[in-house]
Amino acid sequence: MLIVPGQSSREMAFSLSKAMGLETVEVEFRKFPDGESYLRVLGDLRGRDVILVNGLHPPQDEHIIQLALLADSIRGLEAGKITAVIPYMAYARQDRRFLSGEPVSALTILRMLASAGVDRIITVNIHSPWVIEKSPIPIENLDATGLLAAYLIQAGYEKPLVLSPGKKGGAMAEEAAAVMETSHDVILSRRDPVTGEVVVETKADVKGLDVAIVDDVISTGTTMVKSVQLVKKMGARRVAVLCVHGLFLGNAAERIFEAGADLLFATDTVPNRYVVGSVAGLIASRL
Ligand code: R5P
Repeated sequence: MLIVPGQSSREMAFSLSKAMGLETVEVEFRKFPDGESYLRVLGDLRGRDVILVNGLHPPQDEHIIQLALLADSIRGLEAGKITAVIPYMAYARQDRRFLSGEPVSALTILRMLASAGVDRIITVNIHSPWVIEKSPIPIENLDATGLLAAYLIQAGYEKPLVLSPGKKGGAMAEEAAAVMETSHDVILSRRDPVTGEVVVETKADVKGLDVAIVDDVISTGTTMVKSVQLVKKMGARRVAVLCVHGLFLGNAAERIFEAGADLLFATDTVPNRYVVGSVAGLIASRL
């Protein structure tokens, strides 16, 4: 097995190479003067299974194209099976046509990757696990919630009440709470599909408690800002914010601290300033 590092996840590729004792293949990357990506995989891949590592965090469109081009290059070199390690899967929120005339972006991208030659995908906390059963490529979706919870214990939050927003919130909160041997509840969040406005509420009693709010992704930060403001207003003591994928668009992180968060942790699925731990070990264990 060989590792091909994509431009977006070079560090992750080298961490996997180290963890698994696998060789990495050199890839030449350039930009054409008009902005298009040029790449060339420099190695003898014939008959070798390949782990292609390329996260799809911003700039997503560029990273998606590069992933498809890399898969096609590898296929052209007559490699064996291609496993794409995609620590952050882009467009995974658009898993259905919310409004008439919209695409099902998540599936469109998966079909594109399938036709480029990807045989299997390993990803982490995909936003819409519902796309997995419809995907033309088998997807293994790893859960990094436990990893975040373990770091929170090290940071001195022993038994916080764990809350989580979003549709998958219940499961994430439950997983984090199990690791921390504490209790959990949900934050109900609704986003207006047209205006993007987010409304949050919870029935949890947070008064005087340390609270950990865990989410799969922080993008604009709106959901987390509203969630932190909500629990602070309800009398929470310390508030720790944990996410797997820290996109932190604009000043999202600053706004989360201004809302009252005491601590902000993310994994390295997306390179960011708040990384506390790597998902490389988790991914390596499945390869
Ligand atoms: C919602 O279902 C998710 O769990 C996240 O809460 C949401 O996608 C975060 O987006 P933003 O940071 O833009 O509010």
